Amino acid sequence: MEHRKIGSTVSDFLNAPEAPSPAPHAPGASVRHTRAKGEPRFPDGPKADPAGSHFERRIRSFQPRRSRVTAGQADALQRLWPKWGLDIDGQQVIDLPELFGNDRPVVLEIGFGMGEATAQMAATDPDTNILAVDVHTPGQGNLLGLADRNGLSNVRVGNGDAIILLREMLTSDSLDGLRVYFPDPWPKKRHHKRRLIQPEFLTLAATRLKPGALVHCATDWEPYAEQMLEVLTAHPDFENTQADGGFAARPEYRPLTRFEGQGLDKGHVVNDLLFRRVPHQDR
Ligand SMILES: C[S@@+](CC[C@H](N)C(=O)[O-])C[C@H]1O[C@@H](n2cnc3c(N)ncnc32)[C@H](O)[C@@H]1O
Repeated sequence: MEHRKIGSTVSDFLNAPEAPSPAPHAPGASVRHTRAKGEPRFPDGPKADPAGSHFERRIRSFQPRRSRVTAGQADALQRLWPKWGLDIDGQQVIDLPELFGNDRPVVLEIGFGMGEATAQMAATDPDTNILAVDVHTPGQGNLLGLADRNGLSNVRVGNGDAIILLREMLTSDSLDGLRVYFPDPWPKKRHHKRRLIQPEFLTLAATRLKPGALVHCATDWEPYAEQMLEVLTAHPDFENTQADGGFAARPEYRPLTRFEGQGLDKGHVVNDLLFRRVPHQDR
C-alpha cells in the first residue's frame, strides 16, 4: 500500500483556512469562558448528551474526549448547527428527504472524526447525501465549517451515539449505504465488547439498509479487520462483494482519512471491506 500523508491527498479546497478568529476579546472569541453550572457550551449548537438518560447506559463504542474547540469550529457550531445539525436524542423519527431537502440516496457514516474525508466524498459525489455522525464536538464544528466553505449542501452532521440513531430514529429500508472508517479498534481483550462491528450491530443496521445497500468498513487494526470479515461473512443479511470472500481494494471514492494516515505512519496495514445488504428474506 502506498504510504502517503493525508495532507497530500485531500484536495486544496479542503485546506481552505477557517474564517479568521475574532480578536481575543471580541464577543464570541473565547471558547473557554467560564460557564455557569448547567449553562450550555454552545447555546445554538449540539446538546452535550442529547440522548441523556432517556436510554439505558450501554457498552459504548466511543470514548468521551474533552478536546479544545477552536474559535472557527465554535463559530461553525453556533451558526450552522440549527441548519445542518441533528441532535441524536432518540426522541424523533427522521424523515430523511425532509432532512436533506431532496430524495437522493442517503449514506450513513459513523465516526467521521474531523470530517475531512467526509467533506471530500460529499464534494465529489453531490448526488449522494451523507448523514455523518460522531460524538466529537471539534470534529462536528470542523465538518460544518468545511461544508460551509465548500458549498456542500449534501452533508448533515449528527451528534450522539449512532446506535441510538439507528435504533430509535431511522426507519426500515431508509439507508442506501453505511460507512465505518477506522472505528476505534479497542485493542485490549477486555474492551473487545466495545467494538462497533459485532453481529448485533449488523442485525440492527441491516433493518435500516435497503436491499443492495453497500456496507463499507476500513481499519488499520488487523485483528479487528479479521473480526469484521468474520462477522460480516457469517451474517445472513450481508454478502461479500469480493468473489474470493476476502478484503477489498480501497475504492477510489474513499479518500485517505486522518486516522488512516496515523496508522500508516506506524506501519499498519489497511484493510477495506465491502459487503452488500442481501434482499430481505422473511420480514
Ligand atoms: C478512530 S476515529 C476515526 C475517525 C475517522 N473516520 C478517520 O478515519 O479519521 C473513530 C471515531 O468514531 C467515533 N465513534 C465511535 N463510536 C461511535 C458511535 N457509536 N456513534 C458515533 N460516533 C462514534 C469516535 O468518536 C471517533 O471520532
